[in-house]
Amino acid sequence: MAIKGVIRAGFMQLRVLDMEKSVHHYEDILGLDKVGETSDGRVLLKGYDEFDHHSLILRKADSPGMDFMGFKCDCEEFLDEVYEKTLAYGLECQWVDANSDQPGFGRRLAVKLPSGHRIDLYASVELAEKYPGLVSPEIWVEQPRGMSVKGFDHALLYGPELDKTVKYMTGVLGFHIVERCDKPDGSQLVYWITSSNKPHEVAFLEYDKPGKLHHVAFALDNWNEIGHAADLITINDISMDAGPMRHGVTRGYTNYFFDPSGNRNETYAGGYTYCPDHPIRVWDMDNIGRGIFYYERKLNDRFLAIVT
Ligand SMILES: [Fe+2]
Repeated sequence: MAIKGVIRAGFMQLRVLDMEKSVHHYEDILGLDKVGETSDGRVLLKGYDEFDHHSLILRKADSPGMDFMGFKCDCEEFLDEVYEKTLAYGLECQWVDANSDQPGFGRRLAVKLPSGHRIDLYASVELAEKYPGLVSPEIWVEQPRGMSVKGFDHALLYGPELDKTVKYMTGVLGFHIVERCDKPDGSQLVYWITSSNKPHEVAFLEYDKPGKLHHVAFALDNWNEIGHAADLITINDISMDAGPMRHGVTRGYTNYFFDPSGNRNETYAGGYTYCPDHPIRVWDMDNIGRGIFYYERKLNDRFLAIVT
């Protein structure tokens, strides 16, 4: 397999209102490991199946949402190429020093997308203190906790200028469009795009307000774990959005629920294997309910209305 350029979604810095409740949610209930705290009070976490120093950063703020999302790239030269191409495309971008606000990470190129989101591209990151075994490994080093999420998986981002955003992600960064939903006028409502064999690393939906987060998703192994996660959502009295259920889009299994700050989380498992020679799957507005909520076949108002 030769995945070049951007190789995967790597991290997200998330704004939370109450750090103690948020750490309990992500550490004890989802099952991420806390790996440290920065001098400015941000908390760093990672999944048991991840190698990188950290993949989720919680920052206390007055409003929930996403500060930025990081994508791991295959080499430093790619970042230099992207810097030139991003300026030529007409987007703002700037370098962030290695080991500055993200301990363990090399230099990052921060790009302001037309959708209003910031994405950071990086090619080097230190191994975490604890990571999956490498020599005749067991299935895990320590028994996973809570929902047993393996790590950060993908995000759905809402913002304006969908076409210009996705043209940048595909034309400059090399993402592939896996699925999309067309509106009756022929324009697009949403694109699911990938840089790997996963059916999506990120998705963008056309929305009037910039820089919004619809959900941040964490990976589970299978349908049984989706059911177990749903049990924990109820046992811990967490605000449930939808699930356990399946998507028509990507064919993944899923739960949607809210963290204590109102950020929507997803636990996601399964989905087909994408290959870059696959044709694009296209949904229309009459069928998109089935695309998102496959069994119910229609969207709920909450799912459409709540973003952070
Ligand atoms: Fe998702």
